[in-house]
Amino acid sequence: MNNPVDPTTTEAWSDLKTLKDALVPDLRGWFEADPKRADEFTFDVADLHVDLSKNLINEDILDALVRLADEVGVAGRRDAMFTGERINVTENRSVLHTALRLPADAELVVEGQDVVADVHAVLNEMFAFADKVRSGEWKGVTGKPISTVVNIGIGGSDLGPVMVYEALLPYKQEGLTCRFVSNIDPSDVAEKVADLDPTTTLFIVASKTFTTLETLTNARMARDWLLGRLVEVGAIEDTDDARRAAIAKHFVAVSTALDKVAAFGIDPANAFGFWDWVGGRYSVDSAVGLPVAIAVGPQGFQDFLAGFHAVDEHFRTVAPERNVPLLMGLINVWYVNFFQAHSHAVLPYAQYLHRFPAYLQQLTMESNGKSVRWDGAPVTTETGEIFWGEPGTNGQHAFYQLIHQGTRLIPADFIAVANPAHPIEDGGTDVHGLFLANFFAQTAALAFGKTADEVRAEGTPEAIVPARVFAGNRPTTSILANELTPSVVGQLIALYEHITFVEGVVWGLDSFDQWGVELGKKLALEIAPAVFGDVEALAKQDASTQALVSWYLNHRG
Ligand code: F6P
Repeated sequence: MNNPVDPTTTEAWSDLKTLKDALVPDLRGWFEADPKRADEFTFDVADLHVDLSKNLINEDILDALVRLADEVGVAGRRDAMFTGERINVTENRSVLHTALRLPADAELVVEGQDVVADVHAVLNEMFAFADKVRSGEWKGVTGKPISTVVNIGIGGSDLGPVMVYEALLPYKQEGLTCRFVSNIDPSDVAEKVADLDPTTTLFIVASKTFTTLETLTNARMARDWLLGRLVEVGAIEDTDDARRAAIAKHFVAVSTALDKVAAFGIDPANAFGFWDWVGGRYSVDSAVGLPVAIAVGPQGFQDFLAGFHAVDEHFRTVAPERNVPLLMGLINVWYVNFFQAHSHAVLPYAQYLHRFPAYLQQLTMESNGKSVRWDGAPVTTETGEIFWGEPGTNGQHAFYQLIHQGTRLIPADFIAVANPAHPIEDGGTDVHGLFLANFFAQTAALAFGKTADEVRAEGTPEAIVPARVFAGNRPTTSILANELTPSVVGQLIALYEHITFVEGVVWGLDSFDQWGVELGKKLALEIAPAVFGDVEALAKQDASTQALVSWYLNHRG
């Protein structure tokens, strides 16, 4: 693998610096001067209609950004990813989430292995299982069909499935519900199972490594709850054989470590595999998406995968000047490195996408929250902005104040669909239309602001004019789709995966490792004995940690 190109040494970077120094942001003036600006900077990717025109860009800037991508070798690294080169250098792995959505008749052989055949073999197993659960053919230990699926996982084994499940609720089979347990706080599992009937509950234990403390602890608690309740309601005898039979009917697993699944007590026949070349945060389109496949059915899941694939093909083949994930990734670099933007808001105007910002936090921040490059050298620029957000219009009444009038530049992506799942009227008013009026109003207000003269013209007393001025020139990208279909959800995820990839390549990062989560995990295991009262273990901790643990020990019930 070639060493990364230091972006700051490129000609394009110098040009971007010059362009930034000369830039006087003036979205009002730019739109007035160029009636075609909206058209020029609006692009379609699959079913997504993406308007970049309210960004602080012009043709020269986009041209320099595209040249930057060229000089740092984005296309070469993209092709290396798609063909299975081991671009995850620190883990010596291929990065092939794009293979998870290749159609069955595609061809991709990586290091002698037919990846497409492997992917579709697991998809077929998942679909057969999903069909059995959906039709009621898969029965619990007393012969009743499953009505609740509880997914136990964390990070990539949770955020993707829960986000997509919530996004696709209108496509869910009636009478079948999914719940998601992730946190090791025992309140999570306790609340999620409290009102469940054990005879109609199916647990999916999802863990790529099958070693994750939270997931295995939650899985054991769920197993204890299930077996305890089944005995309590007289559904099974209190014997090892009966317990084993119950686990076989009520527990399945998703993992790359099928040996560990068996050691946990789950029949490997009830396990769905994937591969080390699927990163956790890139895995919702693998067997990790099993709860989604059960909820929306095999056809819905296939449509979901087709959505990803359409954006993959766009990213892989479309010219840089019209390549939406490339342009969006480069524009993010523009804000991070030339405007010192520290964060990036993602604001879905679609309640069904309410978990999308949380999902993106793992995707983007676990990928690009790094300060060394893939060759081990320190990065040469700022990296990894903080992604955050909440659905509109809720956010408008909470944090938009800071985006409109705060001192920091916060680029924001607004996402909406034209046709809601519930086209309801309120006294003759189309409520979704009213909702979207807010989307359009916010992006216009952020771009064009309100001048002091406009404020004065409203009769505002002079003393409070400054407080009511909106500077404008707050950049936004608008993403619209027809409907929130399974395909569109897949397209949105793939779009942000590739945006994240582009940013990572410019910064020279291995966007596919996550060593930064290791130290805390290790220390938690070391501190645990102290928390359970081991005096010697406590004495080994620093003074602050000793005091905190002692406080906890003195206050717990
Ligand atoms: O701790 C971070 C992490 O490794 C994520 O990258 C991953 O998605 C999550 O933990 C869960 O890991 P697993 O699927 O192996 O349980």
